[in-house]
Amino acid sequence: MDIRRALSHFSENRSRPIPPRDIIIDTDPGQDDAAAILLALASPEEINVLGITAVAGNVPLPLTSKNTRIVCELAGKVDVPVYAGCASPMTRDLVTAEHVHGKTGLDGPVLPDPIMPLQDTHAVDFIIETLRSRPTGTVALCPLGPLTNIATALKRAPDIAGHVQEIVLMGGAYFEVGNITPAAEFNIYVDPEAADIVFKSGIKITVMPLDVTHKVLVTPTRIKALRDTQTKVCSAMADMVDFFERFDTDKYGSNGAPLHDPCVTAYLIQPDLFTGRHINVEIETQSDLTLGMTVADWWGVTDRAPNAMFMGDVDAQGFFDLLTERLARL
Ligand code: BDR
Ligand code: CA
Repeated sequence: MDIRRALSHFSENRSRPIPPRDIIIDTDPGQDDAAAILLALASPEEINVLGITAVAGNVPLPLTSKNTRIVCELAGKVDVPVYAGCASPMTRDLVTAEHVHGKTGLDGPVLPDPIMPLQDTHAVDFIIETLRSRPTGTVALCPLGPLTNIATALKRAPDIAGHVQEIVLMGGAYFEVGNITPAAEFNIYVDPEAADIVFKSGIKITVMPLDVTHKVLVTPTRIKALRDTQTKVCSAMADMVDFFERFDTDKYGSNGAPLHDPCVTAYLIQPDLFTGRHINVEIETQSDLTLGMTVADWWGVTDRAPNAMFMGDVDAQGFFDLLTERLARL
């Protein structure tokens, strides 16, 4: 290629817009799941939501699949297909978190029951079919709850591991250790066997642990910024935060509650908000005392092969500026 052709080829490529990433969100809303979903649905330049799969977690499956549709309708995105998935963890009884999220899982604002239907297909089948039918390496999975749906899909159809572009998930902790037990973070604790399958899958994984999410605190100033937009979505979000932050501020004595799950969707939009290390992460599945612990080799003290990008820091104000600007669009 001569130099002029090379230069014009280069500038064509530079000016060609990057297409949005195709993703499947797997979720257990949860007010912070709602924030993550709203951020994705408000960001079509970067994110194309192929479907949202609900899983049991913060509250039982009938509520998480209902709440997912409530959130889609709040965003005015009634065409996003929503699928119900697994009602309980792979081998254990379900543990829920109404003490944080309220009886409905979405306590705070008064939002109407959804009109949009649930799809007939099971979430696990949707995940498998979508990954098999699309070009390899083009679909990212974004789990915001226990990893039951994702691990069940991987167990039933091991070939899909080679099709996933990346898994970006909220779960685990290293420096912050646990929020549901002294050793474990909620999403991993609820279904440690599922988490173990995912972390051993060989798929590229990016993790948003409590170490990051505990740095994105919804302070009174940040809630005010949401309310100041005077939009329906931001004010519903502010009402959700008002509800669940009572629990966290009492527990941690912090100036506002952490907003966990939108770290996943913010990463897809603006990855440079986050920094971390590519390290080995193993899941404890045996010990009663430390069940669900993410044993993260942050300091590289073993020779276990790295299997995950484990985030450790975030530009918190950059994150909230992004969240507020995007939610105000809806
Ligand atoms: C995680 O647990 C849930 O309560 C939240 O929605 C988040 O996904 C934080 O530990
Ligand atoms: Ca969640």
